[in-house]
Amino acid sequence: MCGIFAYLNCNVRRERSYILQVLFNGLRRLEYRGYDSAGVSIDASSVSLPPLVFRQEGNIESLVKSVYQEVDATDLNLEESFLTHAGIAHTRWATHGEPATRNSHPQTSGAENEFLVVHNGVVTNHEVLKQTLIRHGFTFESDTDTEVIPKLAKYVFDKFNEDSGDTVTFSQVVLEVMRRLEGAYALIFKSRHYPNELIACKRGSPLLLGVKELTEESSKGSLFHDDKYPSQNGNPRELFLSSDANALVEHTRKVLVIEDGEVVHLKDGGVSILKFDGDKGKHGVLSTPASVQRALSVLEMEVEQINKGNYEHYMQKEIHEQPESLTTTMRGRLIRGGTCKAKTVLLGGLKDHLKTIRRSRRIVFIGCGTSYNAALAARPILEELSGIPVTMEIASDLLDRQGPIYREDTAVFVSQSGETADTLNALEYALQNGALCVGITNTVGSAIARHTHCGVHINAGAEIGVASTKAYTSQIVVMAMLALAIGGDAISNQARREAIIDCLFDLPNKVREVLKLDQEMKDLAKLLIAEQSLLMFGRGYNYATALEGSLKVKEVALMHSEGILAGEMKHGPLALVDESLPIVVIATHDACFSKQQSVIQQLHARKGRLIVMCSRGDAAAVSLGGACRVIEVPQVEDCLQPVVNIVPLQLLAYHLTVLRGYNVDQPRNLAKSVTTE
Ligand code: F6R
Repeated sequence: MCGIFAYLNCNVRRERSYILQVLFNGLRRLEYRGYDSAGVSIDASSVSLPPLVFRQEGNIESLVKSVYQEVDATDLNLEESFLTHAGIAHTRWATHGEPATRNSHPQTSGAENEFLVVHNGVVTNHEVLKQTLIRHGFTFESDTDTEVIPKLAKYVFDKFNEDSGDTVTFSQVVLEVMRRLEGAYALIFKSRHYPNELIACKRGSPLLLGVKELTEESSKGSLFHDDKYPSQNGNPRELFLSSDANALVEHTRKVLVIEDGEVVHLKDGGVSILKFDGDKGKHGVLSTPASVQRALSVLEMEVEQINKGNYEHYMQKEIHEQPESLTTTMRGRLIRGGTCKAKTVLLGGLKDHLKTIRRSRRIVFIGCGTSYNAALAARPILEELSGIPVTMEIASDLLDRQGPIYREDTAVFVSQSGETADTLNALEYALQNGALCVGITNTVGSAIARHTHCGVHINAGAEIGVASTKAYTSQIVVMAMLALAIGGDAISNQARREAIIDCLFDLPNKVREVLKLDQEMKDLAKLLIAEQSLLMFGRGYNYATALEGSLKVKEVALMHSEGILAGEMKHGPLALVDESLPIVVIATHDACFSKQQSVIQQLHARKGRLIVMCSRGDAAAVSLGGACRVIEVPQVEDCLQPVVNIVPLQLLAYHLTVLRGYNVDQPRNLAKSVTTE
């Protein structure tokens, strides 16, 4: 949902072409967050001239092309260099206003580009602010909520210069703007009045600062030595701001996860952080709160993680790296044999809360999309091992209904990004209602990780394809481990627990085996390429597989697909079945197997075009004498079977998309991280 990025070089000479490249590459890394329009702002030849702004509808490459066309047309010198320079950039996923150049960011205060802003989030009171600014003589060119922000900055700047005659500082302007903004945002400000400075601030949406020292000397005597940020030191340094770590890791591992309410001022190569003091400042009087000092953290991420390697698409890479991502998810958390004879699970982030969770009246899983599906897949094993009722909530629906959440509940928030607005709002709601809140996310330092009482990171590594694949399987594994941890060591469950733990150890191998179906799934995709619709029937542990498989097909292959609870087949969906509609039935071996066999019979009797997924060795039992196409998968413990079963469906969705000629990693109208409601 929009990516924002900034690059500030200080005391190191950089050519304009280099600065543009850093900004474009930053945007390329963030493109999965939104890709309907993009823009950058850099300086003109003199700081007395308005900063240059380039904006373009379409993806980053369209922006790059248009910038170079404009450079040619205007003879802008790409070799001109700057000892210190501050540039900002944005890639957009439209919320307010259609994808169009005028709605792209940076949004501006006016023709002179006195204040420029890139924004990720939503300003909920933008209409009121807009009317006020119009009364003060401002005119608006875009349909965005963002445009009020630079205009408000100009209004504040002019007003205080007029009223007091004193020079107002950049951070005072931004603090005053923040005071008037409602909603969620991560913002970066650039201003003609404050050349070579940037201000970043946030409330709700994610934002990171990256710091790169360019000499060993400067590293020694600076923030890396004492983990603080001197505001002046004259050493060559590069500073970066980004919506996520993907755009930072190729430059530096030293980062600061900016907290809500912090205003980060980059000036003269130094960083000062102010804590926004809410509405406390007296109206009309600019205040400057005390600065705070924060320690940098070190990114645990490799550049390879964010490259495609030998794969053509991120989705393809992420499907194929599931054996490794699952191994990382489980690393250090499963204990078997050795000095500790018992097979057990250790989830460090939960250890102080397990007793409270076990005493809960109920466990409520809350999430959206794929994360919800992962929780649904894990629900039966959690119920079985814990004996605690488990209910499921789609985050937006819980909020729409203001559904009951009690103090005695444990609410488990599942979110790959840890930033999904609906899930975050549901978290706030559950906290207000006094529930114990547990987070399961893939993003260290994300809002969900920070605001829950405790939690587990899934450690699946960066997931860049918009369609979630490896995060899904790692989420299921984490929730299976959660079930084992909550279930404790009751003797009645011991054999079952040990079987699950053994199976977890072997799961990466089973996923490796099922990945060998790649070509078979490609062949199946060729058969289905022209279909309008595809149904998927599952039940028990694999109802979630049907929902998730169909979500993958729908979101990337742009083909209608519906996951159906097989037990509901006769209550409506059967009417759809005829000789032309392809139907996937998930019938791997578990307690529901015979019921699924009967579903296959009934669908066959209505001439359904069946594709049956079954456990290896069961083909004869499900194929009705060759009447059905069969996908055979390795059999694992029933509660982990969804991890294996989803893989062929991910591959199917991937190949269907490529064959149909759609963009696999950036499906139409979608963005990776949905930070608005
Ligand atoms: C689909 C997909 C989405 C997300 C959903 C929640 O492939 O990725 O359905 O699962 O938007 O996102 P997170 O998990 O980040 O909360």
